[in-house]
Order: sequence, then structure tokens, then C-alpha cells
Amino acid sequence: MTFTVAIDGPAAAGKGTISKAVAAHFGFAHLDTGLLYRAVGVKVIAGQSPIDAAQTLDPSDLEDDSLRTATVAQAASEVAVIPEVRAALVDFQRTFAARDGGAVLDGRDIGTVICPDADVKLFVTASAACRAERRYKELAGKGHDVTPAGVLADVQERDKRDSERAAAPMVAAENATLIDTSDMSVEQAIAAAISAVDTARHN
Ligand code: CDP
Repeated sequence: MTFTVAIDGPAAAGKGTISKAVAAHFGFAHLDTGLLYRAVGVKVIAGQSPIDAAQTLDPSDLEDDSLRTATVAQAASEVAVIPEVRAALVDFQRTFAARDGGAVLDGRDIGTVICPDADVKLFVTASAACRAERRYKELAGKGHDVTPAGVLADVQERDKRDSERAAAPMVAAENATLIDTSDMSVEQAIAAAISAVDTARHN
């Protein structure tokens, strides 16, 4: 059985938490596609060219400890505008989406470009202020050297670049269910996502 759940949305909207919970609830596999772009960003910071880095990416590169830093997030959003970088990562994502047993993929272009025929499409968003506050707490909690203003600027800069780029811009798919998590608890956001998937599974 294949069943694909596409979860898109801007930085720190809660996609990761929701995706993991949906995958665990239904027994599906989960791929955080942002890690692919982050892993390319790490290699570019180390001196490799973006296209070469994307074309030679190995699944073991997704386990690098530095992937979650704000510096790598910026590098990821810079390489993500390059069409050849995106093209090099398509097959890996589509193969993952088509795996037996169901898959949840989260990113920016899953419901629009990678899996336009996904069984369920969610667009998870929240105000920039809420997202920045959550990301600040997450990074500061892990001991990263960040400030609230710096995290907000990072989120806003990436939102702008991600939604204005020509190649696979971040946009909600026409048939996506919108979940605005600004005023929701984590539990409420997860419940909304599970309910949308349940509805699609019974149709
Ligand atoms: O966790 P967060 O939402 O902050 O970022 P991420 O999902 O790890 O993505 C990092 C960057 O990769 C984003 O700012 C995008 O520029 C890029 N990205 C993308 O272009 N397409 C995807 N499917 C996933 C991420």
C-alpha cells in the first residue's frame, strides 16, 4: 500500500512535530526534506559547489550534528533557489513517497512539485512572531547562541526567499488543508492533522 501525506509550510510553523506525530499515529515513514537542503548547505559551507554537493548527497549526510543551526538554515535556503540543486533531490524524495506502507514528507514544495498527487496535502502555518518565538525557544534550549530578534530576522528572510524564488516557490497547493497553528496547542495542531488524514483515508 502506498499513501502519501504532503506537509508544507514556512519555517518553524510546526511541520516537523506534526509530521512526526502523524507518521507515528498511522505507522508511516517520515522524511524531513529540509534536511536534504540543510545537508547541501553544510557541504557548501565546507567549500563544495552547491550542484556538486546535491548530486553527490548521501543519506548518511542527513545525520550531521550541525544540520539544525541557524547558519545552516540560511545556507539551505540559499542553495534551495538553484534549480539544479532541487532537480538532484527529486528522485530521492519521490522514491521515499512511494514506499510501501505510507509516507509523510514535510517541506515547502511537496504538495505542489514533488508529490502533486499526494493523498493528503496540508499547509501548516503560523504568524512570523509565533514561529520565531518557538524557534528561539527550541534553539536556545539546545544551547545555541541566538537572540529573539536574530531568529525573527532569519525566519523572515527565509520566508521571503522561499516564497519569491522562481524554482518551486513555497505556496499552498490548491487542494491543501490549511492549518494555522498560531493559537493552537501542539496537541490541537496534531489532532487537526490526524483528522485531515483520517478523512482522506476513508474517502
Ligand atoms: O525547519 P525549518 O522549517 O526552519 O527549515 P527546513 O524545513 O529544515 O528547511 C530549510 C530550508 O530548506 C528552507 O528555508 C527552504 O529554503 C529549503 N527547503 C526547500 O526549499 N524545499 C523543501 N522541500 C524543504 C526545505
